[in-house]
Amino acid sequence: MSTTTEIFTKVLDTGYVEPAIETDAAAFEDVVRSRRTVRVFNDETIPEDVMRRCLDLALLAPNSSNLQPWEFYWVRDEPKKSTLADFCLGQPAAKTARELVVCVARLDTWKRNRTIMLEQLESDQVMPAAAISYYRKLVPLAYGQGPFYLLGPVKKVLVALAGLFKPTPRGPASYADMRVWAHKSTALACENLMLALRAYGFDSCPMEGIDESRVKQLLNLPRRAEVCMVISAGKRAPNGVYGKQLRFDKSMFVFEV
Ligand SMILES: Cc1cc2nc3c(=O)[nH]c(=O)nc-3n(C[C@H](O)[C@H](O)[C@H](O)COP(=O)(O)O)c2cc1C
Repeated sequence: MSTTTEIFTKVLDTGYVEPAIETDAAAFEDVVRSRRTVRVFNDETIPEDVMRRCLDLALLAPNSSNLQPWEFYWVRDEPKKSTLADFCLGQPAAKTARELVVCVARLDTWKRNRTIMLEQLESDQVMPAAAISYYRKLVPLAYGQGPFYLLGPVKKVLVALAGLFKPTPRGPASYADMRVWAHKSTALACENLMLALRAYGFDSCPMEGIDESRVKQLLNLPRRAEVCMVISAGKRAPNGVYGKQLRFDKSMFVFEV
């Protein structure tokens, strides 16, 4: 078995032990159940240290290959913030927000992040060779799409052929795949951010009702950066939640197979 694929097939002996701490399920349920999309905020400000802590917690979200393909722009400059609210189509959730965070999925930062990861893994004396080999060899194969994404179709054919004989990862193998790849992880971090705000007694609204081109221009974001959503935050006004939380019957969505 090659060292490169051992990361998938073997239990790695890292010598690292992190016991699971006791947690409070009821407190977690309170946070999850009381998170609502809030569209009108009152005047109460969010302390700076709370915002920082919530952003830190966002960054703890699970993410693909730990390549952290996200960025969070906490827009603090008042004129910029006001313009951003306009680019969120003037939604009350943006106009009345105390804080606005633009959550960005990056299709292009994985190479830089892989280098940082390798530097950190290689400085760790006990890191198994399989982990290092994963970042050195498999990550470029998996996420590299070649110039103008031309490698994608070739990869698609090769994995389809390999997949005839054994379970084979099928992507990402195109620009569209890379977009999905980056947005998946970024959206998980967005949820962390919103739940963290709730845990600290604040509220949020995720917004994709935005003019993405203008938001990107405002923040000088490059082409391969995509706005996953803008999250507005503050404390809910009495009229901030528009109605009872509505979910369809779970039999439509949850299947025990
Ligand atoms: C990706 C995403 C984009 C959304 N965009 C908007 C938006 O632009 N404006 C808005 O008022 N709500 C937006 N929402 C909030 C949803 O409408 C809301 O989550 C849904 O109605 C369920 O309500 P709840 O969050 O209170 O359970 C968005 C939610 C998500 C996850």
